[in-house]
Amino acid sequence: MDFIKHQSLLENQSTPFYVYDLQALGANLNACKQEANKYGYEVHYALKANANNKILSAFVEKGFGADCVSGGEVQAAVQAGFNPQKIVFAGVGKADWEIELGLSNEIACFNVESVQEIEVINGLAQKMGKVAPIALRLNPNVDPKTHSYITTGLEENKFGINPWEYENVIETAKNSKNIKIKGLHFHIGSQITDLGVFKNLCSRVNEIQNYFVDRGFSFEDVNLGGGLGIDYAQPDENPIPDYKAFFKIFDQFLEPLPNQKVHFELGRSLVAYCGNLITKVLYIKEGVKTNFAIVDAGMTELIRPALYNAYHKVENIFAQTEDFEKYDVVGPICESSDTFVKAIELPKTKRGDFIAIRCAGAYGEVMASGYNLRKLPKSIFI
Ligand code: LLP
Repeated sequence: MDFIKHQSLLENQSTPFYVYDLQALGANLNACKQEANKYGYEVHYALKANANNKILSAFVEKGFGADCVSGGEVQAAVQAGFNPQKIVFAGVGKADWEIELGLSNEIACFNVESVQEIEVINGLAQKMGKVAPIALRLNPNVDPKTHSYITTGLEENKFGINPWEYENVIETAKNSKNIKIKGLHFHIGSQITDLGVFKNLCSRVNEIQNYFVDRGFSFEDVNLGGGLGIDYAQPDENPIPDYKAFFKIFDQFLEPLPNQKVHFELGRSLVAYCGNLITKVLYIKEGVKTNFAIVDAGMTELIRPALYNAYHKVENIFAQTEDFEKYDVVGPICESSDTFVKAIELPKTKRGDFIAIRCAGAYGEVMASGYNLRKLPKSIFI
């Protein structure tokens, strides 16, 4: 985003706030669509990354499906105008009301994560006189080589059904008249930057599909989840992830069943770059090795650095000096983990300077909290 071009607009907002560049978002969505369309793949946007209305509208306009993980997200997707037949609903702990909400909106698919969940969905569907379309979310035990907190596809994780339960799943499915198994679903983790991981995923999916086919099953859909990572270190050099390489891997290594539709659920890769958290410097304080630049945003507005030790590029966007100094850029919250970045070189920074925390469009605003009784951040769109 060209901050200088929008300097007066940005300087006139009260900080901290999120600013989203809708043009950058549009370019990203077009790039993704273009590559996915080459292979007839269907992409569902993972709302959990950012559920801002204007962002959701951009996805609806481009014809994306939706991937939801709560009743609130299903509701938001329906209200934003996503076609219910393109809404999928995952999550290890769906409450009864959330399942009922999905059933009454006739969503495309429940991605079920346990044998007991199949039984519960079957019971609720029976009461409502419906047949629930489901996909079995299986745990492929593939290492996504990412932060352990956002690893979901290893057998020790709570997600998905493990191989020792397959027999039980088959039995339960046979006895459940109010469910229809439409597909298989996988999601192994997030911020995956080693594309070889997706090749490993394809091999496991092929093996697992064959296991079920050998036992008389057939699946209309296979869903490979999301997880494609972005370049947090060099956002402007790589504003759009390499969708071409990503989808090509699946084309090369996945063996879909005849006439099977292949689905993805991307979140971060689509929205991270278009959002920035803008904050103002409150104080400069001398530290032991570096100075502290204390800003008015903290872990309450963007928790990723504190929670995952995640790196976001931090820039002093309107500074005009050639002198550089080292700073720890920290927030006002009463926790030492409330640190955006340590020991970075910034132009000599002073009270009132504007700081951008880059690539904050995914898992930023949606994860904001009111800790320390702070107000939730506002957002603007350019
Ligand atoms: N599908 C399922 C079932 C998921 O659980 C997720 C993300 C996605 C798709 C989308 O993954 P993506 O394409 O965005 O990687 N708060 C963390 C990320 C949590 C991801 C949770 N699941 C962060 O800030 O890094």
